[in-house]
Amino acid sequence: MDGAGTHDTDRNGTGGNGAEAPDAQEGARLVGRKTVLRAALAATAAIPLALAGGPALARTLAASGTEPQLTPPCDDGDDPTPEQIEGPYFKPNSPQRTSLLEPGLPGTRLTVSGYVFGRACRPLSGVLLDFWQADNNGAYDNTGFRFRGHQYTDSRGAFALTTIVPGLYPGRTRHIHVKVQAPNRPVLTTQLYFPNEPRNNTDTIFDPRLLMTVRDGSGGREAAFDFVLDVAQDPGPGPTPPGGTWAVGTAYRTGDQVTYGGRGYVCLQPHTAQPGWEPPAVPALWRAV
Ligand SMILES: [Fe+2]
Repeated sequence: MDGAGTHDTDRNGTGGNGAEAPDAQEGARLVGRKTVLRAALAATAAIPLALAGGPALARTLAASGTEPQLTPPCDDGDDPTPEQIEGPYFKPNSPQRTSLLEPGLPGTRLTVSGYVFGRACRPLSGVLLDFWQADNNGAYDNTGFRFRGHQYTDSRGAFALTTIVPGLYPGRTRHIHVKVQAPNRPVLTTQLYFPNEPRNNTDTIFDPRLLMTVRDGSGGREAAFDFVLDVAQDPGPGPTPPGGTWAVGTAYRTGDQVTYGGRGYVCLQPHTAQPGWEPPAVPALWRAV
């Protein structure tokens, strides 16, 4: 049991706390590349999951896939999901499971689903997510593993947790702890929060950037949150590749014609194309036609 007001009392602010965080501003600029990615992922995921009969995952993804994203934006170069203190109640070696529900444990059913992205906003598979939270009465199980469990993102970078809404205890607002770790990468320790909680205004650890999107569902509450890890990724082909028939490594002869960036060019002298010798950049080699 806790409840003595000692939980998470280390409020040194190990990163990203900040009651001054611009909540409304953050929420207003959330339509980004990640939102599009998330919608696309959910759309492609819905059918096979439904056919596969994965009830929990299918339900949570379908429920959350089209919601507005009140989560950290993931435009290239944006900050990853902020860290938070671990608190005193983490235990290693939690069981691998996506549902923390157990018979006889009261509480309002809650699903938390989302995706884990890298810095280029591409989903990360095989990411470890280790959740721990208080029970309905605000108590942590420090002898067993009630309301503790870990899982891994699937090939689409998705995760889904079935649990209950954690109870409140003195000194803190409502929250879920989680450690997130991409393969062979550092661990991100953080916490997830619920909107419209009165204690969000007084809990100095609370960070609005870690608010989940939460709504009422048919069997309880449905929350969504997407993590962004500080993992470098190849951004892939950019949104505006120059395109054209010009290609590095090609041997061009005088008079050859190519296209590049939507324009035509004629070769002025024989050469083999190299990076940096794009037609618009080298007038000695190419003339626009
Ligand atoms: Fe806690």
